[in-house]
Amino acid sequence: MEAPIVAAAGLRKRYDKHEVVCGVDFTVRPRECFGLLGPNGAGKTTTIRMLTGFAPIDAGTLSVFGLPVGPADVRAIKSRIGVAPQEENLDPDLTVAKNLLIYASYFGIRGGDARARVAELLAFAALADRAADRIPTLSGGMKRRLVLARALVNRPRLLVLDEPTTGLDPQARHLVWERLRELKRSGVAMLLTTHYMEEAAQLCDRLVVMNHGRIIAEGTPRDLIERYVGREVVEIATGDDPGERARVAARCRALGGRVEEVGDHVLLYLDGAADARAVLAALASETLTHRRATLEDVFLTLTGRELRE
Ligand SMILES: Nc1ncnc2c1ncn2[C@@H]1O[C@H](COP(=O)(O)OP(=O)(O)OP(=O)(O)O)[C@@H](O)[C@H]1O
Ligand SMILES: [Mg+2]
Repeated sequence: MEAPIVAAAGLRKRYDKHEVVCGVDFTVRPRECFGLLGPNGAGKTTTIRMLTGFAPIDAGTLSVFGLPVGPADVRAIKSRIGVAPQEENLDPDLTVAKNLLIYASYFGIRGGDARARVAELLAFAALADRAADRIPTLSGGMKRRLVLARALVNRPRLLVLDEPTTGLDPQARHLVWERLRELKRSGVAMLLTTHYMEEAAQLCDRLVVMNHGRIIAEGTPRDLIERYVGREVVEIATGDDPGERARVAARCRALGGRVEEVGDHVLLYLDGAADARAVLAALASETLTHRRATLEDVFLTLTGRELRE
């Protein structure tokens, strides 16, 4: 097997008395899109900040392209990765094009090469007509696309994307997905965080779910759905009468499969063993939706429905 692009083992990070990354192990393999999912505050950005050299590691080992992350190799690592951070950190005093040109100069790309690369990236991010505009005049989605374009300046072999499509409209999100797939086909490996489960399902070859600084599940999207949820879900609307909800829940329990009561719904998770047709026939008098299980079901099953930080 080829050497991993990223290898983390026993990785830990503490802020004051609070350990926020508590012994995390994962690898990102060549040409793979690897997802880091988890609720707000799970420790995803902190993990990425350690990987990209912005936060020192407290314990464990972390290597990128076989090089240990640390002061000695930070330049060599940075020259081969592209980072789109969660917080937008474009220079507000510069134009769109100048933001990219300055960034290119950090990698020794100057003059005509830099201008050509910037033109390419502006086209890639569908921002060519905004090249001369200053950052504060852009919409949130345009800034997000520019951050992604900037991450590509040095033709990285690993892209680290912390919530690349948060705040994007559906059109822009689909554009970014298409671009990320193109990059993946060209051999770029990716480490991606997202709160959009559809995004993770579409893009990630493998993913981990983090919760309170620990990895609690790992696998392909399909494996995780089968392992933690099953194949299909029946959602039954019960209105907000708790008695009615309890009645429906009891009926569902009698049919087999896991049952969850959520607000004005009862969810019945059907694994491969349950006979979906018989269940649907038995519940025919209820107001129901029958759908395939998704990664969102996995996420909520594993991390609960309580609000986080
Ligand atoms: N510089 C810091 N100083 C103190 N605490 C921090 C710092 N950075 C992060 N934390 C804490 O570490 C925990 C993990 O934060 P982190 O940003 O890694 O979460 P996340 O998984 O990226 O969440 P989100 O989905 O909201 O972006 C949180 O409790 C956060 O408050
Ligand atoms: Mg984060």
